[in-house]
Amino acid sequence: METQMALSHLSIKPGDCIKVKGKVAPYAKSFALNLGQDSSNLILHFNPRFESHGDVQTIVCNSKMSGEWGSELREPIFPFECGEQTKICVHFNAEEVTVKIDEGHEIKIPNRLGFESAEYFAVEGDISIRSVKFD
Ligand code: GAL
Repeated sequence: METQMALSHLSIKPGDCIKVKGKVAPYAKSFALNLGQDSSNLILHFNPRFESHGDVQTIVCNSKMSGEWGSELREPIFPFECGEQTKICVHFNAEEVTVKIDEGHEIKIPNRLGFESAEYFAVEGDISIRSVKFD
């Protein structure tokens, strides 16, 4: 997936909220939000797949440690539509990572790496970013 935005040297702490507003591409196949220490160490890979890697309308989440993916988690909801605006908020603590979508849906995945600080945040794939806010 093409990197749309990658920020490093951040200092995101438990309780901080990352808010991304964007527009899903009209013929989106997949996009992803990645959060962690760097691109090889992620506490969150949040990957809505419209049609990608054999998945249709499925959110796949994972972690990555020293470049190795963990085991994938598949979510039972898919609140995204091609060509539509979306607002995604991410926050975390040492135990879990929470992703809120359009203020109505929430998913939680375990923070498998246990990091209490994140320095890296990136967005990739078929979405155009309108704004990113840290607060
Ligand atoms: C892979 C895919 C990666 C990532 C990973 C998550 O198949 O190539 O981009 O989504 O799955 O487990």
